[in-house]
Amino acid sequence: MLKIAVLISGSGSNLKSLIDATNDPAYPVQIACVGADTDAAGLAYAEAAGIPNFIVRPADFASRADWGTAFAEAIRAHDVELVVSAGLMRILPANFVNEFSPALINTHPALLPLYPGAHAVRDALAAGATETGVTVHIIDEGVDTGPVLRQAAVQIAPGEIEADLHERIKQIERPLLAATIRAIAEGEIRLAEVAAAH
Ligand code: GAR
Repeated sequence: MLKIAVLISGSGSNLKSLIDATNDPAYPVQIACVGADTDAAGLAYAEAAGIPNFIVRPADFASRADWGTAFAEAIRAHDVELVVSAGLMRILPANFVNEFSPALINTHPALLPLYPGAHAVRDALAAGATETGVTVHIIDEGVDTGPVLRQAAVQIAPGEIEADLHERIKQIERPLLAATIRAIAEGEIRLAEVAAAH
């Protein structure tokens, strides 16, 4: 069993799909804790599943680095082997990244390196793209610049609005994230080797 932490900021539908995946005893992953930076609605999924969860709010700290230290400590208390950012809408400070990376991954709603940042779906639409998708990657010190682990494409329908496109991306994203974590758990993806080759 690979023990993981899942980090969220919002609705937590990716978290919910991971919780559902772990209900299958053949899925080799245990969610040891869920962390958030705000009152994320998705914490209710952790609560309902009896998974330890916590909020560490940046506003309670003097600096981003201090927040990162406190967030990392809260995660470390659960002895996890992998930290998964699944809708954490905040850039992690360098001290946090250095502590966990390369065992620190993120899911992003675009085909990186296209459309990094907080508004990836909106940016793809604004660029007039006909295709976008989802990327699961290792977090490094840049913003959405770390080594790509898995990607899947989604075609954009003419006239499609952001909310509809994002929901269609998430339908691809949830199983891709679960499959990527499984591949890490089973040694098919070796994070240290991927990071070293980057
Ligand atoms: C996901 O689509 C994730 O890729 C995105 O937030 C959504 C969270 O959905 N993350 C980013 O945009 C990070 N830059 P969820 O809360 O329903 O899982």
